Amino acid sequence: VKALVPSGGTGSRLRPITHTSAKQLIPVANKPILDYVLRDIVAAGVTDIGIVTGDTGAEIEAFAGDGARWGARVSYLPQDAPRGLAHTVLIARDYLGDEPFIMYLGDNILRDGVAAFVREFERERPAAQILTVRVADPRRYGNVEMDGDRVARLVEKPQEPQSALALAGVYLFDARVHDAVRAIQPSARGELEITEAIQWLVDRGEPVRAVEAEGWWKDTGRVEDLLDANRLVLESTEASVRGDVDEASSVTGAVVVEPGARIENSTLRGPLCVGAGTVVRDSFVGPFTSIGPNCVVEDSELEHSVILEGCRLTGVQRLEDSLLGRDVVVERTDRKPKSYRLVVGDHGEVGIV
Ligand code: G1P
Repeated sequence: VKALVPSGGTGSRLRPITHTSAKQLIPVANKPILDYVLRDIVAAGVTDIGIVTGDTGAEIEAFAGDGARWGARVSYLPQDAPRGLAHTVLIARDYLGDEPFIMYLGDNILRDGVAAFVREFERERPAAQILTVRVADPRRYGNVEMDGDRVARLVEKPQEPQSALALAGVYLFDARVHDAVRAIQPSARGELEITEAIQWLVDRGEPVRAVEAEGWWKDTGRVEDLLDANRLVLESTEASVRGDVDEASSVTGAVVVEPGARIENSTLRGPLCVGAGTVVRDSFVGPFTSIGPNCVVEDSELEHSVILEGCRLTGVQRLEDSLLGRDVVVERTDRKPKSYRLVVGDHGEVGIV
C-alpha cells in the first residue's frame, strides 16, 4: 500500500492566514496538521508517500523533506491548479502504479489514526473503502447514503442531504479507481470530485465498503474547525513542563511548556501548550490554547485560541476563540477591558484603543 496526500488547495476558508502559508501547515497543539497525517500513515505501516502540492509546494517541501523524520519516503507530485481530488489521483498514476493506496487529505485530522482502517481494507480487498462520520451539517461535505451495509449513493456537498453521514477525507483504493477518475467530468465547482469517482465504482457494481469512524474527525478548513481540532488534540495531551515556571505562577491541568519557554507570575489552566522560547508574564492562559514558539504574552488573558509563532500580546483582556497568524502584534493602548474575537493574518497588527 502506498499513500497519496493532497496538500494543495488555496485554503480560502482560512484566509487571511492562508494568504501566506499552506493550510496543511497551520499548527494544532503546536504541530502542523500535516505532521499528524504523516505520522498516522506511517503508523499504519505505509511508508511510500506521494504529497500532491500546489502554490504552497515550496513550503510543504521545506517541512516534510524526504520524509525520513517520520521513517517514510516522501515524493512530491505538483498539481498545476486545484482541479479536484480525483485529479490528484489522475496525476499520481505513474507514482502509484497498480498498487492499492490510501488517500489522506493533508488538512484532515482523526483521533484514531488509520491503522485499523488499512488493516480492514487489506482483509476485505474492496475496490474502495471510505470513512464516514456523523455530522450536524452534512451539506458541508461529501454525503453518503447507505442501504443497510451497502453504499447506495455519494453526493458532494448536497443542498438536501439524505443522511447525516459525511465522507471523511480518508479513502482506500485499489487500481480500479484509475478507470473511475478518467471517466468522470468536472463538477459544478470545476473540479474532478473523488466523490463522483467513488460513485462511478458503485454504479458499476464494484465493491465499495464504508466504515464509520469511532473517534472524532475534523476537516480543518474553517477557523471554527481548526479551533475544535486544537481543543480535541489538547484534550488528550499529557502534561509536560520542560521550560521555566517561576514560584509566583500556578499551573494546573495538562499543560505543556516547551524547553526555553518562561512562565512568570501567571496562571496556566490546561489543557494548553506553550512553544519554545515563549514568555508568558503577568497573564492568565485558559484551556484549549496553543501558543506557538517565540511569542510574548504580557498582562493578558486568553483562552480557546491558536497563536502562531512570534506573536506579541500586551494588555489584552481578553482573547477568546481566536486564530492569530505569525508575528501578529495585539496591544492595548488604554484601559477599556472588553472581549475581542480576532482572525488576523501573518504579520497583522491590531491596536486596541
Ligand atoms: C473534500 C471532499 C469532501 C470531503 C471533504 C473532507 O472537500 O470533496 O467530499 O467530505 O474533503 O475533508 P473539500 O475540502 O475539497 O471542500
